[in-house]
Amino acid sequence: MARLQDRVALITGGASGIGAAAARLFAAEGARVIVGDVQADLGSSVAEACGGLFLHLDVAHEPDWRKAAATIQDRYGRLDVVFNNAGVVSGRSIEDLDLATWDRIIGINLTGVMLGCQTAIRLMKANPEGPRGSIINTASTAAYAAIPGDPAYSATKSGVRLLSKAVAVHCARAGYAIRCNSLHPGATDTAILAPALQAAPQMIDAFNRMSPMGRMAQASEVAAVALFLASDDASYVTGAEYLADGGMMAGHPGI
Ligand SMILES: NC(=O)c1ccc[n+]([C@@H]2O[C@H](COP(=O)([O-])OP(=O)(O)OC[C@H]3O[C@@H](n4cnc5c(N)ncnc54)[C@H](O)[C@@H]3O)[C@@H](O)[C@H]2O)c1
Repeated sequence: MARLQDRVALITGGASGIGAAAARLFAAEGARVIVGDVQADLGSSVAEACGGLFLHLDVAHEPDWRKAAATIQDRYGRLDVVFNNAGVVSGRSIEDLDLATWDRIIGINLTGVMLGCQTAIRLMKANPEGPRGSIINTASTAAYAAIPGDPAYSATKSGVRLLSKAVAVHCARAGYAIRCNSLHPGATDTAILAPALQAAPQMIDAFNRMSPMGRMAQASEVAAVALFLASDDASYVTGAEYLADGGMMAGHPGI
């Protein structure tokens, strides 16, 4: 039996990288996948390859969430998995950071996850068999060790970590079978790293050396952890934080 057979799964940031890998993996495990993203061309082709649906969803924009919820309700009548995975970096240190950039990063990486959790709970509560589902929020190793060149990113990822726990405990105490966990990738070979690599191609070595395994993650390796959290294999896992970082946070670097 496939691990997500007939589950309806919304993946934000599903047009690229970890989200696209998750869309493919979830679909291969029987899920009906909805790719929510702001990149229509890429998102539509991922959705098509998965036999799923693309929705234009700017996660920072509440009306987009309302529209997405209405479409999902009309089309599927249920929602089982929400992978709040869309995210962006700013590449600006505290001295270079302007308020508009700070607001944009907070809007997408933190407010977007909060709106995603609210939408997930609202729809999952209305599932025909009662409140049930799994929410997975992509944070980062930056939730534990700051990226000095990107305080906005670090602040949002740290926020996602405790936001996820608050949601998890709220749902469990309310008696909902709705789980919520955070996923913390280390450096992963996706498009999000492209601006940093364009500016300084030698950064590739630094990204590889961040993990004691000596290499970055592939998006599919992070998506595999999201699949576990989405599935019933994780039925007793909520409020937890899952690292997929090749051991990066397990030891002091270089000694
Ligand atoms: N790649 C890494 O090294 C790494 C490490 C730790 C955490 N992460 C996190 O993983 C998640 C996925 O990133 P990725 O590495 O796959 O990068 P990616 O750039 O390949 O994918 C990010 C996706 O988010 C989408 N997106 C951006 N703004 C959006 C918005 N407002 N609404 C909806 N979608 C939007 C993009 O269009 C893109 O498809 C992000 O939250 C990122 O912070 C990545």
